[in-house]
Formats: sequence, structure tokens, C-alpha cells
Amino acid sequence: MGIFYQKETKTFYLDGKGYSYVFKVNEYGVLEHLYFGKTIAHDDVSYIRDRGTNSTEATIPGIDDGDAFYNRFMPEVAFFGTGDYREPCFMVRSNLGDRLVQPHYHSHEILETKPQIDGMPSMSGEQTLVVHLKDEIIGLELDVYYTPYCDAGVISRRIIYKNMSNDTLELLRAYSFTLNLARNDYSVMSLYGGWASERNIETIPMHRGVVSIDSKRTTSSATLNPFVALISPNATEETGSVYGVNLVYSSSFALKVEGTHQGRTLVTGGINDFDFAWKLESGETLETPEAVIAYSSEGIGGMSRAFHDAYREHIINPRYVKKPRPVVINNWEATYFNFDVPKLKKIIDGVKGTGIDTFVLDDGWFGDRNSDRSALGDWVVNEDKLEGPLKNIIDYAHQNGLKFGLWFEPEMVSEDSDLFRAHPDWAIGVPNRKRCYSRHQYMLDLTRSEVRDYIVNSVNKVIRENEIDYVKWDYNRNVTDSYSIELPADRQMEFAHRYALGVYDLFERIVNANPDVIFEGCAGGGGRFDAGVLHYFPQIWTSDDTDAEERTRIQYGTSIVYPLSSMSCHFSVVPNHQTGRIIREKTRADIARLGAYGYELDSSKFTDADREMVAKQVDEYKAMQSLVLKGDLYRFENPYESNYFGFTLVSKDKSHAHITFYSRINRPNSEPKFIYPTGLDENKKYYIKELDTALYGSTIMNVGLKPELARNCGDFVSNTYSLSEI
Ligand code: GLA
Repeated sequence: MGIFYQKETKTFYLDGKGYSYVFKVNEYGVLEHLYFGKTIAHDDVSYIRDRGTNSTEATIPGIDDGDAFYNRFMPEVAFFGTGDYREPCFMVRSNLGDRLVQPHYHSHEILETKPQIDGMPSMSGEQTLVVHLKDEIIGLELDVYYTPYCDAGVISRRIIYKNMSNDTLELLRAYSFTLNLARNDYSVMSLYGGWASERNIETIPMHRGVVSIDSKRTTSSATLNPFVALISPNATEETGSVYGVNLVYSSSFALKVEGTHQGRTLVTGGINDFDFAWKLESGETLETPEAVIAYSSEGIGGMSRAFHDAYREHIINPRYVKKPRPVVINNWEATYFNFDVPKLKKIIDGVKGTGIDTFVLDDGWFGDRNSDRSALGDWVVNEDKLEGPLKNIIDYAHQNGLKFGLWFEPEMVSEDSDLFRAHPDWAIGVPNRKRCYSRHQYMLDLTRSEVRDYIVNSVNKVIRENEIDYVKWDYNRNVTDSYSIELPADRQMEFAHRYALGVYDLFERIVNANPDVIFEGCAGGGGRFDAGVLHYFPQIWTSDDTDAEERTRIQYGTSIVYPLSSMSCHFSVVPNHQTGRIIREKTRADIARLGAYGYELDSSKFTDADREMVAKQVDEYKAMQSLVLKGDLYRFENPYESNYFGFTLVSKDKSHAHITFYSRINRPNSEPKFIYPTGLDENKKYYIKELDTALYGSTIMNVGLKPELARNCGDFVSNTYSLSEI
């Protein structure tokens, strides 16, 4: 595995876990893609180029014969204007106003360690290939980065755009990669949704033309996740070739999938070029976000495991990624804004002896914040409401053996706040125009350093002055009125990306200043669930919807890309606050423990029996937590396609496993239901605790298990099985 350059044929072979990625410098000096898929030998595969026969194709500029046209190559970096009519990877306007460019190979280098992106999150890694491309006429240079991984089935890609001329250039599109795939009959999978219904799966057949997945919200958004997969015909959950692309990016993005009449597919994307233009003065560069591209010959499940491995090993903070997470009690659904000190103390008292180890004080502890209409931005403890300093309630938590967590929403400002009264111009908006409200609040202009300094200082002050172990970082609305009073008119279309750089600057300066604090991301639930956020926050509140039935779909969809340990999942009361649905306690616990587990309810109302129940649930969670943090996920029932949901979590050495099966609607006299978990070692014999029996993996996976679904058991029933090798 690694990076190999074959001088004679000028071919690059990038071998990662389970795949080969091959391209060459062709006779025109263009980087020509040759192959990406299951591992192959280092043969010369340039014969797969489609030689031109169509006389209406445009020739390579200046060459009035030959049989190669740009439109026929598979370009490593697709470019516009000289005969390639597919989606280009970038567009640049020169000082003449033309948009022509021909990025030709100049040189390459192989770095032993992967450089991090300046000001943006990126994967750690080792050997990295950088190919330098140049357009001599306008002086644009591109550094094209490739990092193959031997511990995960992914390759990471990005491009740095550099203006080496004496003139100004304007980038009208600056994507991170072009990916070529060998056929054009894939299915396209994406993750869509909205508040309380995040990351649903949609799979559509590919068509000629462009499938576009994007966000124009200046956040990665719940509307569409920055992810797309290409599924080969006949591929299944566990078999066949599947490709996935995920951006390490938290702002407006675009991913485009183009089926071409040459029988190929071109995928490209990065920063959204909608409402985008970026001025590059002489000598300036633009770094683009990283694209993580997975290849799996083991179906959709193999692609998910490739992303999970990649993110656990290379994106999420190693200090937390595989460490047991706090089991929290959060007061939001218990009190909303309506709490006082006696109430908080009762919530803390309520969890005594249950194994819950962290109390999180949610929204409403600061400024004059008693509803969602005021005080965002005023990160000063409301000592009237808390009857004194925050220390009092923190001490009370500590005396009761609990750590302490606190809610912030640092990127926001309420109109009714001291901050807004002092600095109305700090809110994003166009002078002399009224701004849009969303959840009654505005957003701060994070492109401005003085605004970021204020946030960093005021948030860090609260954390520094108090013993805080956990921060829930919320973000409850999306950008409107995109404009910064500090940017010149001809740079206003840089706003969405500059906002992202501002967010990452905040994350760096607050997370790094508090290395012992675990941060949880949140965005009105899972409205900003992406690999960029995960670089700083090891877990994200998956959804405000805590209903177990809804969560089977939300967590299943989220698991397509993101590891279970990145999803915060809480057990909550019934009737559920979002759906009104009543689901039994066992099912709520079984589904919530497929993530970073906690509680979202009023524990002041706990009876002794409730406490006993919770203690048992927490014990059960702790017994399987290492599988949530480190195990491989195999999905065997898909709630989008059937009445069921099924996950098996298997330890890397396959000695332990945890099977979760869930049945939505109970039908009397229905056909018997067997489940066929996947991912076990067929030659290992496992003791199954719940059945008090031992069976070989081959038996469990092929003969199946018969879950308990009694005729009158009701709806929303779960069965779990704990397996250990004997
Ligand atoms: C968002 C979060 C909730 C809660 C509230 C507080 O909606 O998703 O969990 O923190 O904000 O206002």
C-alpha cells in the first residue's frame, strides 16, 4: 500500500485499504484518470481511454488532428472552455475577462506526512501526493492533494488554488476534487431531512445530466448532508461496489454527479459556487475543504465502515474518540426555560445511584434569558435566577458525584440583548435593510475578528471561571441577509466560506483553550452534523426528536456516514415531546444506547423503581459501550424498507457483539420473523446471554435467530442479544 510513480508511463498508483486509484500524465500534459476500484496490479491500464471518433468534438487547442479530445478523457481536475463540456472542478476569470484555462502537469512530490489545512479541519494522515498543475498563460497554479489510507477504505482529496501572476484572478468555482467512475448506471444515495427528521435516506437512479446535492444555508444543514454515494447495479448492504463522498466542511457546499454519454460518471464538489466568487490577488491562495472518498467492495455497509474507521482514526479528537463518554442528564425537556435552583437540585437528587455521571444545564442560565426571545450573546451568569454564582449549582452536582455541563449558542445574538444594544452592526445584515428573524434571533458576523474575539473571550471566561466538564454548543438558525460590513463590495460573495473559516477559528480557540472539556455539537438537533464539526466535537446531538421510532430512521441514516460514537442519543419521557407517541421503556433504552447515551427527562419525578430501572439501563449501556465506541457496524434490517430495524455491533477481533432488533408494527398471525445478523465470525462460537445458549457465528448468521414477538406484544418492540466468544 502507498503511493507509487511509474516513470516510463508517467502513471501514479495509489493503493489504500481495499482499493487502487490510478491516473497518469498523458501526452498532452493533462492528468488523466484511469481507474478507481477494487485493488489491481500495477499494470498499464491507459488502454481504457475512449478514443474519439466523433468529428463534432473539439480538438485539443492548436492540434488540428488526432483522436483525443478533452471531452473524452477522464480528467483528474476537470476544466472548462476547451472542449470538455462536463461539470468543471473550477472556473476562473482572468483580467481579460475570459474563463479559459489549461492546467498542465508541472511537477509532483510525495510527502511523508500529510499537511493539515490552514484554518480548516482535515484528516490526519501519512504519505501524501501533491501534483502541481499550472496554467502558464494566466499564472494560476493548482496543488492537487491525494492521501490514500491503509487503515480505512478511503482516499482524501483537496486542491489549493494559487495566483502566481501579477494580475488579479477571480475564482467563480473552486471545488475540491473531480472523481471519475467507470460506468454511468449507478444509483445515487443522499441524506436529506429537516428539523426533527434528519438524515433520511433517498436513493434515485442516475440519469444523464447532473444530480446536484447542495446547501445554500451557510451551514452543512439537515436539508442535505454533504454526502453522496454511487451504488453499482446489484450492490446490496453487504456486497458489490459502492463509492461515497463526504466533505469535511460545515458551510454551503455542492456535490454534483454527472452521468455522461461516454458511459462514465463524473463527481465533483466542494464549497458551493452558488453565490460565490473569490478574488485572488497576486500571490494569494485559496485552500479548499477536504473531500473524503470511500470505496467499498462490500456494499453500502462496507462504505459506512470505511467512513467510520477513517473518522475514528483521523478526524475526531483522539483525546475523546474511543474514551467512555459521559452519561448525562440534561434538563431541557424537564424544564425548558422554566427552572429555579430548587428544581435543578431535585433533578440532580433524582439521579442519585443510577450511574448517570454528568448534569447538563441547558439553555436559560445566562443574561435575561427566560424565553427564546432574549439574551443570546450575553454570556454572563444570571445570578438572580441561579441565586448566586454558577459555582453553587456546580458544587451541588459535584457533591452528588456528578460532573457539570453547560449550554452555549456562541454564534448568535438576540435583538433584546446587551450585546446587540452595544453592537447592532455585529449581526449579519445589509445596512438599511431589515433582517430576517429565525427563532427570534440573529447571527453574528463571524467573518469579523473583533466579533470572534468577543465570543472567544466571553465563552472562555465562563468556562475558565467555573469547573465545567462538558459544553453543549448549539446553533439554532441558518444565515440569511449574507453580508459583512467589513468586506469590500467585490468580496461579498466570499461571505459563506469566510463564515465557515470564522466558525473554525472559534472552535479552535475555544476547544483548544479547554482541552479537558468535552464538547457536544448541536444545531437545533442535528442541523450541522458533518465531519468538520466532528473534528472538534466528538459527538453531536443527533436530533431534537427523541422518539425511538423516529430515531431508528434518523440513527440508521446518520450511520451511513458517521460512527455511532458521534451520535448523542437520549432516553426521554413518554408521551414523547415531539411525537406524542408512547413507546415502552426497553425499546427507548435499546435504541438510545446505539450512540453516546444519556437522559432527557425530569428526574426529579423519579420513583425508587425508576431509579432502579435507570441504574440497570446504564449498567447495560456500560457493558456494550466499547462496541459503540470502537466496534464495526453491520446493518441487517433497514427501517426505510421494512417494518424492522437491525444493527449488529462487532468488536474488531470479532470476539464480542451486540445485536439490536426492532419491530415497528405488530401484526397478529403474521409469518414468523427470523433475523439474520451479519458481521460475526462464522467459525467462532458465541455465548448469547439473553438466550443462555451458545451458537457458532455461521449458525446465527445463516439459520438466524427468532426474536420474541408475541402475538399481543404491541408495537415498537425491541430485542437485544449480547454475544461473547467462548
Ligand atoms: C435546541 C437544542 C435543544 C435545546 C434548545 C435550547 O433546540 O436542539 O436540545 O438545547 O435548543 O434552546
